[in-house]
Amino acid sequence: MAIERTLSILKPDATRRNLTGKINALFEEAGLRIVAQKRIKLSDAQAGAFYEVHKARPFYGSLVSSMTGAPVVVQVLEGEGAILKHRDVMGATDPKKAEPHTVRAQFAESIEANSVHGSDSAENAATEIAFFFAGTEILP
Ligand code: PPS
Repeated sequence: MAIERTLSILKPDATRRNLTGKINALFEEAGLRIVAQKRIKLSDAQAGAFYEVHKARPFYGSLVSSMTGAPVVVQVLEGEGAILKHRDVMGATDPKKAEPHTVRAQFAESIEANSVHGSDSAENAATEIAFFFAGTEILP
């Protein structure tokens, strides 16, 4: 399988509850390498632009504001089949539907405060990584 990179975000509900180490441990145990990482506070404009694709959805405003209430940790994960592997470790968007071993089953509070974001395709991963990171910040 090809080595891929994916964009991961540890969301405000996770940073508020000091869960970043526990979640990163699950990523690393699954064979994902954290090759870039920074803790930042998203502005309304940044969160709005990041979730632009969901602009027409009824939850857009709420999703955007949920991402700005506390810091997030943005990270680039690398590994074999990293995009799918990361989504497997995250679990279903709705924590009630997530498999028990996943991040969302273990830590998410709701479909909105669901602790992690992950890119869903190679194309989106490239766009989302470039949204937050310069190439020189990614150190395999
Ligand atoms: S889709 O259709 O697959 O793109 O949608 P989905 O992956 O389910 O959700 C996209 C992001 O929207 C968030 N979401 C919600 N936020 C608030 N309220 C409701 N009802 C809701 N439903 C979905 C969900 O957490 C996803 O966030 P990210 O950061 O992309 O994982």
